[in-house]
Amino acid sequence: MSPAAPTPGDFLCLRTHLSDKTVESRLERTRVDDLTAGEVLVRTHFAGVNYKDCLSILGRARIIEGFPRIAGIELVGEVVHSAVTEFVAGQIVMAHGFRTGIAFDGGFAQFARVPAAHLMAVPSGLDAWQAATLGVPGFTAGIALDRFIELGLTPERGLVAVSGASGAVGMLAIHILARAGWRVAALTRKMALEPVLRALGAEEVIDTQAATAPLRPLEKARFSAAIDNVGGDMLGWLLRSLQDGGQIAVVGNAGGNDFPGNVLPFVMRSIGMFGVVGNASWPVRQRVWGRLAGDWRPDFLALAAHVQTIGLSALPDHASAQLAGTTCGRTLVDLR
Ligand SMILES: NC(=O)c1ccc[n+]([C@@H]2O[C@H](COP(=O)([O-])OP(=O)(O)OC[C@H]3O[C@@H](n4cnc5c(N)ncnc54)[C@H](OP(=O)(O)O)[C@@H]3O)[C@@H](O)[C@H]2O)c1
Repeated sequence: MSPAAPTPGDFLCLRTHLSDKTVESRLERTRVDDLTAGEVLVRTHFAGVNYKDCLSILGRARIIEGFPRIAGIELVGEVVHSAVTEFVAGQIVMAHGFRTGIAFDGGFAQFARVPAAHLMAVPSGLDAWQAATLGVPGFTAGIALDRFIELGLTPERGLVAVSGASGAVGMLAIHILARAGWRVAALTRKMALEPVLRALGAEEVIDTQAATAPLRPLEKARFSAAIDNVGGDMLGWLLRSLQDGGQIAVVGNAGGNDFPGNVLPFVMRSIGMFGVVGNASWPVRQRVWGRLAGDWRPDFLALAAHVQTIGLSALPDHASAQLAGTTCGRTLVDLR
């Protein structure tokens, strides 16, 4: 199969099927008429690969609603045709959330039909690759930072811990926080990456083994806030390690759903805890993307070394490696 010269009548996708309770993702040729409906036809340039996508294409969690489905919870591309006036041919746009790649066909195809209500223009100042590099992980990190600010936290209060530091959300969170003037402590199982994490902006790099130390009701209070991508024991340890009035943004569960907890961090240190849902409201999307393209803008040259670009056919193997925790940084499928 050649990926050359895709047309709306004949292009490549990775489609996920369910048969006899088995999930299988296959590289297929398809056509626009076979995609879920939407007013805007987009020629996909990049689809970011998220932990959730890896789970869905390999059938490791019940994420997809309705099979067969083209997964890919985010995409960036160029409008080819639009039935609405808000979008015009040639415009660079992106979609994430709104059950893209879950209930609607998503990014893992050379074309997507996107409901106009799910689509936004890439903010001015970002090109397609830059918007895709940030994508859901950068936006998620941005939501956490936006909420810290809303809750009255300031950089002067001390270090913000970021767990799962070598992952996509982790690396982008470290870099975005540092660019915005916050001090960051990176928590990772991969201490060999310490120089990389410091270069991205981490002031301290901590081995996650610290978080599996014998359980105390309260640990040394060392962080003003935390972005937790891991869950499990890590989340319990971070809760016990926040300073008075600290806040924890619960983002992910790469290390497990359940976490050990007790009431002391709350009643003795007035800790607050909130969940981050990437499928945010439009006001939050506009505000956070505006800052990501503006005063929180990453140094894309520094990030580039940590952005891997793969073809659609390499995606299933990549997904296995990402779920095994052996990948690092951000991965984009290049569909051009
Ligand atoms: N709430 C939302 O809207 C939202 C949005 C995006 C992502 N997420 C979630 O956030 C989490 C991170 O996403 P991501 O895109 O950064 O994923 P990722 O690129 O796969 O990175 C996950 C990182 O977590 C750590 N990790 C992986 N498996 C682990 C394990 N078994 N035990 C402990 N640590 C482990 C690793 O970091 P180290 O090796 O450096 O420790 C890994 O690099 C995922 O659970 C994802 O579903 C949520």
